[in-house]
Amino acid sequence: MPENQSTGFPANPPRLHHTTFTTLRMKEMVEWYGLVCGLRPLFQSDEASWLTNDEANHRIALLSPPGLKHPTDKGHETGIHHTAFEFDSFDMWVNNYIRLRNHGILPFLTLDHGLTMSIYYQDPDGNGVEIQVDGFGDWAASSEWIANDPDFAANPIGTYFDPEKIVEAREAGLSFQEIHANARKGDYLPAVIPEDIFLPEVW
Ligand SMILES: [Fe+2]
Repeated sequence: MPENQSTGFPANPPRLHHTTFTTLRMKEMVEWYGLVCGLRPLFQSDEASWLTNDEANHRIALLSPPGLKHPTDKGHETGIHHTAFEFDSFDMWVNNYIRLRNHGILPFLTLDHGLTMSIYYQDPDGNGVEIQVDGFGDWAASSEWIANDPDFAANPIGTYFDPEKIVEAREAGLSFQEIHANARKGDYLPAVIPEDIFLPEVW
């Protein structure tokens, strides 16, 4: 495997492919990822399931080996905070928020990160799942922005927003870029600002 001589990094790095969770709620988890992200199981059993929503053979896998225990304080323990899924357009992203809200699935965090607008849910085990739309509609542009723009360095976590205010702004005819700019500067703050980004306890 050739390396970059100055960094020691592989010259041809592998791509991120999937995440695997252990779970004691197999059926509930499979149903939830289907409803929220359109992930369908290519193989499903009580012990293990492999789910995908694109051309890959799986993007999320779920394992339930004997002896598995629930976590004691997942939200304050190191490890994965969330996995993330991205919509190609602002309208698709807003429409998905409305669709899930109508199913009674509500986010625990909603943040304009600048590079993305992001809505965070918890799966039945309490794992975070971010549903985002690129703030620039362009990965090259958002990569340039996170690396070099002082706005990101000044506010890297982002600005909270009330997603219902985003829905209203879209209904009022504002463009994605107008809404994104307004959200970033705090025009759509929620009534209650979360104290932290820890995963709320559901386990
Ligand atoms: Fe994220």
